[in-house]
This record gives sequence, structure tokens and C-alpha cells, in this order.
Amino acid sequence: MTDLNKDMERVLLSKERIAARIAEMGKQISEDYDGKDVVVLCILKGAVHFFSDLTRAMTCRMEMDFMSISSYGNSRQTSGVVRIMKDIDVGITGRHVLIVEDIMDSGLTLNYLTMLLQAREPASLRIACLLDKPERRECAISPDYVGFIIPNEFVVGYGLDFEGFYRNVPYVGVVKPEMYQK
Ligand code: PRP
Repeated sequence: MTDLNKDMERVLLSKERIAARIAEMGKQISEDYDGKDVVVLCILKGAVHFFSDLTRAMTCRMEMDFMSISSYGNSRQTSGVVRIMKDIDVGITGRHVLIVEDIMDSGLTLNYLTMLLQAREPASLRIACLLDKPERRECAISPDYVGFIIPNEFVVGYGLDFEGFYRNVPYVGVVKPEMYQK
């Protein structure tokens, strides 16, 4: 049987830790948006599990929508210029929007994306991010809600990929260097 665990150096965040933190985040976000409708926006593909779990931990009225973006450049580094592969279906003008992302690294992707979305004049625009690597930041942006601040290591799992794989690993793990130093 294939065992993806063998490709991991170690578990950084267990599925239990992730679940506990998302429960806290959902509670906090629900309090902050109490009495408001919110458009919760999943940025595909990495945010898929986080979005699914976070929205179910939230109790406020919400619409869900999905956006698919692709950044120019190589797979391990963001260029900062984002191409929209699938735009959101709902109008966000005058609405409260919560962007749900898996990871903030250089910050360039979200910097660009928030600029695009701000131009549509939402009532508010916030970011919930599961993982944050602040030491990698190349622009002045920070998420409003953060799951975990993590060191600058190559992580996969719980939605995060390496060359498209490992998104189904149920925890966040550090990949063995030999996996990408080929
Ligand atoms: C990841 C992640 C963010 C971006 C963060 O997406 O989901 O969008 O990189 O990097 P940055 O802060 O340096 O801009 P990726 O391009 O890997 O696409 P995916 O979500 O489809 O895996």
C-alpha cells in the first residue's frame, strides 16, 4: 500500500492540533461577523480543506464562493502577478468578504488579490490564513486571522502540495529534502 507518510521528515501540525485551532478561529470569526452576512471566499486549490473545516466551524450567515488563481513563475516561488483562472460568481460590492487561504509566504499573492478585490468596493475585506511564514514576507500585508505561525520549512499536506501531490495528507508535514532536491 502506498504510504505518503514515508515522504515526510516529520509532522509539523497534527490533524488534532489543526482541528482544535480551527474551532477557535471559527468561534472568533463568528463573533466578529455576528449579525452580518459574509461572503467566504476559498482560494483554490490549497485552501480547500481549511475552507471546508473553517466554514463548518462558523455559525454566521454566509455565502461560499470559489476563486482559482495561478501565479506566474516557478512552482516554489510566487512572482506576485496573479492570473484569475476562475473568478467569483457573486458580486461583492458593499458586502463583507473573508478570503480563506492556506498559507501566506512572500505575501505577494494576497497582496495582489486584495488589490483586485478592493477595486470592487466590498464593505470589508479580511483574510483568514491557516499558516503564516512572516519571515518570508516581501510586502506589507498580514492576515487578520492566523492559524499557526510556522518556520520557513517546505510543508505539505492539509491542502498544501508539492508538484500537485500530498494535498490529501491529513496533517501538515515537512517533506524530506530528498523529495525536492532531485
Ligand atoms: C500558495 C498559497 C498562496 C500562495 C502563497 O498557492 O495558496 O496562494 O502560494 O505564497 P505567497 O505568499 O508567496 O504569494 P499556490 O501557488 O501553491 O497554489 P495552490 O493553492 O493551488 O497550491
